[in-house]
Amino acid sequence: MGKRRCVVAALAAIMLMMELAALTVAENRRSMLSNGLGMTPPMGWNSWNHFGCNIDEKMIRETADALVSTGLSKLGYEYVNIDDCWAEISRDDKGNLVPKKSTFPSGIKALADYVHKKGLKLGIYSDAGYFTCSRRMPGSLGYEEQDAETFASWGIDYLKYDNCNNDGSKPTQRYPVMTRALMKVGRPIFFSLCEWGDMHPAEWGAPLGNSWRTTNDISDNWESMISRADQNEIYAEYARPGGWNDPDMLEVGNGGMTKDEYIVHFSLWAISKAPLLLGCDIRNMTRETMDIITNKEVIAVNQDPYGFQAKKVRMEGDQEIWSAPLSGYKIAVVLLNRGPVRYSTTARWDDIGLDPKTVVQARDLWEHKTLKTTFVGNLTATLRPHSCKLYVLKPIA
Ligand code: GLA
Repeated sequence: MGKRRCVVAALAAIMLMMELAALTVAENRRSMLSNGLGMTPPMGWNSWNHFGCNIDEKMIRETADALVSTGLSKLGYEYVNIDDCWAEISRDDKGNLVPKKSTFPSGIKALADYVHKKGLKLGIYSDAGYFTCSRRMPGSLGYEEQDAETFASWGIDYLKYDNCNNDGSKPTQRYPVMTRALMKVGRPIFFSLCEWGDMHPAEWGAPLGNSWRTTNDISDNWESMISRADQNEIYAEYARPGGWNDPDMLEVGNGGMTKDEYIVHFSLWAISKAPLLLGCDIRNMTRETMDIITNKEVIAVNQDPYGFQAKKVRMEGDQEIWSAPLSGYKIAVVLLNRGPVRYSTTARWDDIGLDPKTVVQARDLWEHKTLKTTFVGNLTATLRPHSCKLYVLKPIA
């Protein structure tokens, strides 16, 4: 072997070793939260968007009942998540969190047992600060191990961990303490980081949590919803099985948006591999709400095993194309009209990563129809204001 070749071979070997070392580091970082959860985005319900602090054990039980009786649980909605305001303002004399006597008199363990008997999972909420955001109950700062043990002993399956009223230190200092505490208790607990995206948790969340909020709180209106989808899209590259970007919980069914807007909301959350956490009163849902949240084909896009989060691949004024590869050589595409007037919008193959000559079959997931003609090069749809189409494209030649 010539001298030059020797040098090249040596360099290649060094690079391989460096790559392997980097992989090991990545794996070690990953394994800080090796709970095996969230291989697809979590699905379920959370109390906050509709009920705020007006929660009690009866309502939580009725919600669990409704998840089963409506058939939602069979579609994958499994988490029943209690948000803020479930505990007394003071810990007991041993420093334990105490479920609020007036609203959760039977305690959280009883609620977990009830929910588990129905084949569902129970989630709870705390905060990496001294008080939660409502200031009506303590946070877990300084009590991480004790609280993680409490949650595990109650049979908790999911922890949303907020960021209010902390000591001013960085979230990257406070969140790992709870990650470690959860790992220590030995119960797999989905860990949802609720840092609102302030310090770009997509960049450091994967070793610590199963999902991380990328935005401030959503409200039940178009502007709030669509801007959260935008902010979340920036971090698409970071989403993967085991760790997801979280643009906040769903508002579908809360009444502040039109049917078309809620369909956009659900479509963008699905294609963005966002947690599908319902935020309405599922004991009293309209047919329209049910139709949206029970769309199996849209849910399947969200739960696709590949876990690629959609990206915006074209923006022209109010018209946008979002797309994500799916397993089985398929591609999910959203054609979105953000504007106030009807518009004809086109998805082009070169934007969505298809060879321009590819012949494609298109399935319209909201019409539940495979389009009669096949498509080559592009696909155009006319969209009402604030509406979208969600297609799954399948190359056939
Ligand atoms: C923060 C979170 C919300 C909710 C409230 C509860 O604002 O971002 O999702 O949990 O706190 O107080």
